[in-house]
Amino acid sequence: MKCGRAAAIALPFVAFVLVAAVVSGGGGRTGSHSQEHFLRHVPGEPQKAALLPASTQAISKKVVGGVIEEGLARSRAAIRLAARAAPRDESVRRIRSFRNGGDAFVPRGAIYRNPRAFHRSYVEMERRLKIWTYSEGEPPLAHLAPGTDIYSIEGQFMYEMDDPRNRFAARRPDEANVFLLPISVCNLVHYVYRLNTTAYLAPLRRLVGDYVRVVAERHPYWNRSRGADHVLLSCHDWAPLVSEGNAQLYGNAIRVLCNANISEGFRPRKDATLPEVNLADGVLRRPSFGLPPENRTTLAFFAGGMHGHIRRALLEHWVGRDPDVRVHEYLPAGQNYHALMATARFCLCPSGFEVASPRVVESVFAGCVPVIISEGYPLPFSDVLDWGKMSVTVPAARIPELKVILRGVSERRYRVLRARVLQAQRHFVLHRPARRFDMIHMVLHSIWLRRLNVRLPY
Ligand SMILES: *[C@@H]1O[C@H](CO)[C@@H](O)[C@H](O)[C@H]1NC(C)=O
Ligand SMILES: *[C@@H]1O[C@H](CO)[C@@H](O)[C@H](O)[C@H]1NC(C)=O
Ligand SMILES: *[C@@H]1O[C@H](CO)[C@@H](O)[C@H](O)[C@H]1NC(C)=O
Ligand SMILES: *[C@@H]1O[C@H](CO)[C@@H](O)[C@H](O)[C@H]1NC(C)=O
Repeated sequence: MKCGRAAAIALPFVAFVLVAAVVSGGGGRTGSHSQEHFLRHVPGEPQKAALLPASTQAISKKVVGGVIEEGLARSRAAIRLAARAAPRDESVRRIRSFRNGGDAFVPRGAIYRNPRAFHRSYVEMERRLKIWTYSEGEPPLAHLAPGTDIYSIEGQFMYEMDDPRNRFAARRPDEANVFLLPISVCNLVHYVYRLNTTAYLAPLRRLVGDYVRVVAERHPYWNRSRGADHVLLSCHDWAPLVSEGNAQLYGNAIRVLCNANISEGFRPRKDATLPEVNLADGVLRRPSFGLPPENRTTLAFFAGGMHGHIRRALLEHWVGRDPDVRVHEYLPAGQNYHALMATARFCLCPSGFEVASPRVVESVFAGCVPVIISEGYPLPFSDVLDWGKMSVTVPAARIPELKVILRGVSERRYRVLRARVLQAQRHFVLHRPARRFDMIHMVLHSIWLRRLNVRLPY
């Protein structure tokens, strides 16, 4: 179900005083509007909730929030400290033993923007993140989402949140610091849109708006934060548009979206990119190393439909042109897509109708260096992962130069890139129940960072 080109409406509601996100660590100062490095693993000064009128902001600096906010303030301070620590700082060794549940993994190496800050932030998340999933709503529109196919991450995340083994679940809503709206935009589209396709998005928006209204009336949590500590997670292309069903949901809440298009209202400081995972049969797979570099005989591989202008440019230029750059619209019968990825040096990941492509995760799983061809798309987990260290970015305008660009990557550089792709694999694996540093926990970590970006008076 692909979405029309309706432009996102910029809603005038501004809930927070926008402080330029000046962050420490990683070098350089970045405003909240720059596209790539807007948000790091290090939370900046949290934004102050608009519940405080502008004139009291000076005072509010001294106001200590409630007990939950105090805990989050300690986490922010610990992360900042870790971000500045020297590489061999003892504190890194000390936190390793904390609650590792038998898995003592410690992030290290160039794929992380700041491995110490990330590690500390992750451990702080394990210590403090408590998510309350509202019980309101009936399946299939709530508490149920597809666990297969292209939008499977929606269901996979929802099942994990409802799993009794989920260690991040709050026991009571008053201990929670994050609230999940368990609505499935996929299922809204599947069950509601088709009842009257002429009405297009209106009924879907109305349902989402109603859901928010119900939880805001029944519980105190929405109103006290105006939605800023609430999460809507969806992989469906239409999720950004459907989230317009409530102005505070659109403008304040943490929207975790596959369709993370900066040009369509996605704001990386408060919204997070959800990786798209194509689980055709719903089976959770393990990544592979694929062939070693010396056996990867194809320079670049792509197979996929002519969706959107970037794909058009790619297919029109490269289909059937060069045996080194294997670009197919339809894979010839008998060829195995994943096996071909495992034999290519580079796997092309162009945006389609929407910015996200399941090929990013597929490349990582096949040990193939991703080539990102997109515009205005913050890659998943890019607040902690430095994609520049494990992928190649090619602007859409340079698609005809793909071969030259990829041939220009030296053998040595290629091996480094590929080794890093293998290193990143653990962050893209799905487990049930979820495990430390796996994809679901990385999504939670993205949510955790956005929650740290706001300071709320409770
Ligand atoms: C479908 O939606 C359109 C637009 O809202 C409306 O005019 C029409 O009456 C609806 N049809 C039905 C069968 O409800
Ligand atoms: C939250 O605000 C809405 C709109 O102002 C109001 O209708 C609702 O009753 C409030 N909820 C609570 C729990 O007070
Ligand atoms: C890689 O290629 C070499 C020959 O060039 C071959 O001996 C070896 O078995 C191949 N390895 C794999 C994993 O295919
Ligand atoms: C991102 O949004 C802009 C503005 O609506 C649109 O022109 C562009 O095609 C979108 N990108 C993709 C890959 O869909």
